[in-house]
Amino acid sequence: MLSSFISHVEFLTIADYPGPIARCRFSVAAYCDDMFPLAGFDFPEHLNAAVAKRRAEYLAGRYLARQALAKLGCHDFTLRRGGDRAPLWPQGIAGAISHNVDTALCAVHHENGVGGVGIDVETQMPAKRAEELWSGIVSVQEHEWLRQQPQAFEQLLTLVFSAKESLFKALYPQVRCYFDFLDARFTQLDMRQQTFELELLKTLTPQCHAGRRFTGHFLLQGDNVTTLIHC
Ligand SMILES: CC(C)(COP(=O)(O)OP(=O)(O)OC[C@H]1O[C@@H](n2cnc3c(N)ncnc32)[C@H](O)[C@@H]1OP(=O)(O)O)[C@@H](O)C(=O)NCCC(=O)NCCS
Repeated sequence: MLSSFISHVEFLTIADYPGPIARCRFSVAAYCDDMFPLAGFDFPEHLNAAVAKRRAEYLAGRYLARQALAKLGCHDFTLRRGGDRAPLWPQGIAGAISHNVDTALCAVHHENGVGGVGIDVETQMPAKRAEELWSGIVSVQEHEWLRQQPQAFEQLLTLVFSAKESLFKALYPQVRCYFDFLDARFTQLDMRQQTFELELLKTLTPQCHAGRRFTGHFLLQGDNVTTLIHC
């Protein structure tokens, strides 16, 4: 039964984001390939060599994308994947997908020239992992600043990691090039408003230039750190 695999489908409100944000839980243990037709999708060839976790998270994201796009009047849409692995959204719609071990998210909105969206969910990394990984995620200056904050370093590092991945997903459809975690800098955190700010350090296009700042929103729920950037 599909409900043993996908459950707790809900729509979130995050600040003034102008479209639906769908979230669900999914269970890799309950996944089997029959879930694709049960959910109304053909099994995509590119997943033939993938492990069950990858198949499960891909389907959970597609399932949510279909639900979210229906709210925008785009019914029964099958979201395909581009050669660069970025999703191929319907004309005039911007969107993003994320999944961690058991949660999937999808945000979509009518683009109307207002730009893209990035969404990301991460499981909070353990302290030891944060010690091993921080230099690939933040600069020495950002690291020092994070250490001075009252929150646990591993929680903040997970938040910055997620924020930067959201920025990448939001900008990629416009800039069409890879940029690194150290090409953006975390400049502000407001725990009360649940907002943050990132500054781009590298010029990617005339519009996405070094110095441009992006405000994002975050949610901390249990072990899950969720971020969203709409720009
Ligand atoms: C692409 C990337 C951001 C995905 O993040 P992740 O934490 O690994 O995985 P998530 O579950 O959150 O997101 C995966 C989804 O991102 C989407 N995605 C993949 N490539 C993408 C791209 N180029 N642009 C936008 N979205 C993309 C897909 O929908 C994918 O899910 P799907 O394959 O099931 O459809 C990440 O793998 C990556 O390459 N990061 C390096 C670049 C970066 O983040 N730089 C920071 C700049 S400040």
